[in-house]
Amino acid sequence: MRLAGKKIVLGLTGGVACYKIAELTRALGKAGAQVQVVMTQSATQFITPVTMQALSGNPVYTDQWDTRIHNNMPHIDLTRDADVIVIAPCSTNFISKLAHGTCDDLLSTMCVARPHHVPLLVAPAMNVEMWLNPATQRNVAQIKKDGIQILGPAAGEQACGEVGMGRMLEVDQLLAEIIASFQAKSLAGKEVLITAGPTFEPIDPVRGITNLSSGKMGYAIAQAAWEAGANVTLISGPTALDAPYGTHRISVQTAQQMHDAVMTYVKADITAQVTSTVKKPQDVFIAVAAVADWRVATASTQKIKKTSDSDTPQLEFVQNPDILASVAALPNAPYCVGFAAESEHLLHYGAAKRIKKNVPLLVGNIGHHTFGTDENELILFDANGHTALPRANKQTLAIQLIQEITQRLNKTQQ
Ligand code: CTP
Repeated sequence: MRLAGKKIVLGLTGGVACYKIAELTRALGKAGAQVQVVMTQSATQFITPVTMQALSGNPVYTDQWDTRIHNNMPHIDLTRDADVIVIAPCSTNFISKLAHGTCDDLLSTMCVARPHHVPLLVAPAMNVEMWLNPATQRNVAQIKKDGIQILGPAAGEQACGEVGMGRMLEVDQLLAEIIASFQAKSLAGKEVLITAGPTFEPIDPVRGITNLSSGKMGYAIAQAAWEAGANVTLISGPTALDAPYGTHRISVQTAQQMHDAVMTYVKADITAQVTSTVKKPQDVFIAVAAVADWRVATASTQKIKKTSDSDTPQLEFVQNPDILASVAALPNAPYCVGFAAESEHLLHYGAAKRIKKNVPLLVGNIGHHTFGTDENELILFDANGHTALPRANKQTLAIQLIQEITQRLNKTQQ
């Protein structure tokens, strides 16, 4: 219920993507929001007010002169208790109206008359040529300058059959953007690198050693960091999870691969000369992954066969590099946050591990109580001792943890 208690005014303008807004309305309701739909006449050509009323549970407004509003001023009254206005889909014409302050129907007049503290988010949806048209780009630049937030658009197949920029974001992406719009941008402009999930160390081509980490905690932290405005790179071992929207995920399998990927990103100032995609070193490194401490020294290239009933293969192990300790030891290391997955004596082991890894903050949890589940409880160890984040779902804990990290990061930069 990430939107509990929020009132969202959802404006629809003309576009085939209106059909996706039925789903978005349901998703917003499920997330706890109260949704008030306002439609342009063009939008009603694509989806009916009846459908939108049924899904939102509220009367739909399409007309400036609607007498159901007592003072007959729907352009004022509909937004006075709104937390956000979202225009989705937002047509080329509506962007132009926003850029010019045009008031020629209920929705456009309502946007111009909105209280200045109510954020306006727009999700463009149009043909690629309409999106790329210089007039549209001029209008988009203008509304951005005016403080309107543009969600997307994405590139891909379009209803008209052409391919390119202009597709409206998908429902789950719009939902993520709307939820994020309510979070303080405490990490705006920061680069955050996160490891998550288990690693998998091969024994032979069909077997390997891994652990019970699901990646849920690391992925929730990546999501929370993105919601706080950070550019997030997520280096993930094998998990069944989708990449959190807005983050850049790199999938790896072994601890060595995770180490190499982390080092590439953490030393991005050096690699920038050869990798044009990476521009800036990291501000924060959060090592959430349950990294295998050992790997099989020489993994067999072929499946190891059982030759008799009593034989057991003799596996020789070597230690994997300690990713967190390697990053923390770098000159100009980012602000490093470690995790400790223990099975007992958490207070003792957590405090000792923070010092051993030489990191300012270490987050302790009981591994087998949390791996694979949706809840967790965390103990934060820093130079001042330890504090607890009580049991909650991983999303809530991730948001709290990002706040804790931000406070400490800001102190180091004062
Ligand atoms: N870690 C890492 N690279 C490794 C092992 C661990 O980056 N090769 C990181 C983890 O991501 C975590 C922290 O170090 O942030 C502690 O991991 P944990 O498995 O709890 O501890 P270990 O260092 O492996 O020590 P031990 O297994 O003895 O408890």
